[in-house]
Amino acid sequence: MRDLSVLRSSILAALGVASIAACGGSTTVDRPASQGAGGGATGSTSTTTTGGGGAGGGAGGAAPSACKDPLPLLQPSGSPTGFVRCADGAIDRVAAVACDAPAPPGEACVGDEVNLSCTTDADCVDRSYGRCLHGDSPDLGSTSCGCSYGCKVDADCDAIGPGTACACAGVGERVTQAQCVRAACATNAACPGGECGFGVWDTGCGVDLVLSCRAAADACRGDAQCAGQQCSVDGAGTPFTCLGPSCAIGRPMTIEGVARSAKPAARGDWRADRAVDFAGLAPRLREALAQRWADVAAVEHASIGSFARFSIQLLALGAPPGLLAETQLATIDEIEHAKVAYAIASALAGEGVGPGPLEGVGAAVATDKAEVVRALVAEACVGETFGVAEALALADAITHEGLAAVHRRIAEDEQRHAELAWRTLAWIVRGDRAMGAVAVAAMEAAIADLGAVRGDGGLVAPEVGLASGRTIAAIRRIAAEDVVRPCMAALVAA
Ligand SMILES: [Fe+2]
Ligand SMILES: [Fe+2]
Repeated sequence: MRDLSVLRSSILAALGVASIAACGGSTTVDRPASQGAGGGATGSTSTTTTGGGGAGGGAGGAAPSACKDPLPLLQPSGSPTGFVRCADGAIDRVAAVACDAPAPPGEACVGDEVNLSCTTDADCVDRSYGRCLHGDSPDLGSTSCGCSYGCKVDADCDAIGPGTACACAGVGERVTQAQCVRAACATNAACPGGECGFGVWDTGCGVDLVLSCRAAADACRGDAQCAGQQCSVDGAGTPFTCLGPSCAIGRPMTIEGVARSAKPAARGDWRADRAVDFAGLAPRLREALAQRWADVAAVEHASIGSFARFSIQLLALGAPPGLLAETQLATIDEIEHAKVAYAIASALAGEGVGPGPLEGVGAAVATDKAEVVRALVAEACVGETFGVAEALALADAITHEGLAAVHRRIAEDEQRHAELAWRTLAWIVRGDRAMGAVAVAAMEAAIADLGAVRGDGGLVAPEVGLASGRTIAAIRRIAAEDVVRPCMAALVAA
């Protein structure tokens, strides 16, 4: 359990506020916990159905689809999934079909696991096809036991809530088992543009799967248009756009409201002096961890751009020398963070990994005061504060000595960056009530955006820092309540 009162106090001290009543909470952050593996689908039945009532309603006569030469995607049994791949790489759902029967249970729990949230299948009753499975990966040596749920038809996902659907195994490389996905549409017939698109987004915590209507104005239709990022939606119902990791520690760099990062490149010059030993790590865990650290590295690298841009904005607003100097020092911190993260990713991958060009970084710098405040609040006051809370919570759960030390080191620096962000915000909004209101609105928008559960389907191994998207969202929710909102209240009051 992690008490965030120290982080809150340090930010309040940076704001020149000793304590306020609203800051007296003592909420703690749960340590990331292991959870069960996903369900399976390898059976042989497949019958056409209208599916459950989970995903969005019909829009009536759909417009002609922009999907050319649709190729049906098949389940492992050869049955259709109801999805097609268009010639440009876009994937759409044309029909709601029944997925193959979920697989029989995997390795059952034995009852002496370290993390035990169920003991038999009978304990897993939240949704359909509940299984109580031993660990996320038996070859990890991690002992955990958790519930896993599958689906056959959309109605199996209703227990999660409205706006869900069942995606069969075979819908793209990332979907190897039938699973419930968020859905703003059920099939093409529900969309005015005639396409209910499927998005796959590796958020940095796991893979986020979603169904959402495509529109002609969307920024992309397939990953091929995204220079190493993925074409998906940041929340069902929003436009398809190119997305990079957002669920990784670091200050995101947003351009036109979307977090940007560089595509990974084979190179060996982004190395840190500090080496971390990964001898004896199981192959599957090594692969997942390498991906995670490549994502973390990309966000840390993007943070350099965020601080560089912020220096220009501070100059435009006439900032004092102290804030400018601290911003430059923070930029150097981020270079070091990126080097450490790329070094870890390289060691895990067995080859040099570094950043490619950071596309879009040359876009015009907004110097309008309100725009600067919105970006500062989202990227730094909220983003970096969440980063500290995440790094601390992950470090508490990590048993790998080298990785725990890296998380603690990053948390230390990010705490300094968060304090700088809040101090800078206080300087900008001082005596300007309208700007204070802009900051509060930007804070709520950022909390809603960054606090959403994303990528809750990846490998979970808290002993090495692989937390589920749900755990990351929980950490961020508590950081919002215990730190961000009280500190914003103190800032506005002052
Ligand atoms: Fe950083
Ligand atoms: Fe930072």
